[in-house]
Amino acid sequence: MNFSEDFKTAVVRCEHFNSAHRLHNKSWSDEKNKSVFGKCNNPNYHGHNYDLEVKVIGYCDAETGYVIDTKILSDIIQDEVVNRFDHKNLNLDVDFFKDINPTVENIARVIYNLLRAKIAPHLELKIKLYETSRNFVEYPI
Ligand code: NI
Repeated sequence: MNFSEDFKTAVVRCEHFNSAHRLHNKSWSDEKNKSVFGKCNNPNYHGHNYDLEVKVIGYCDAETGYVIDTKILSDIIQDEVVNRFDHKNLNLDVDFFKDINPTVENIARVIYNLLRAKIAPHLELKIKLYETSRNFVEYPI
């Protein structure tokens, strides 16, 4: 038995960022935006404390015993996500959300694409993003 190749293991790294956003569809009237998005359509924005769980799944490397070095994973998340999003206004400061609504669903998809480009292709990647302690999304499922 090759021990290192016998187990697929998930490594999870948790990170955190604070951001402001506003949910708004430019092609709708103010009334429709208010009726669909409610408080989340507040013109002066509002903030969330986002909790991010990044799950990397793969086989342990025979020599290191790691699926991925968590220091390397943490650095990737810092560079690609936290430095871009933390203490930012997602609508105004982050290009990805110039034309798409910064819902927690869309933020998770953007984060996945940013991290996917930096994590070795043989490793699976899954994102869980909490907008509140009671609301979170998973991507991809
Ligand atoms: Ni919100």
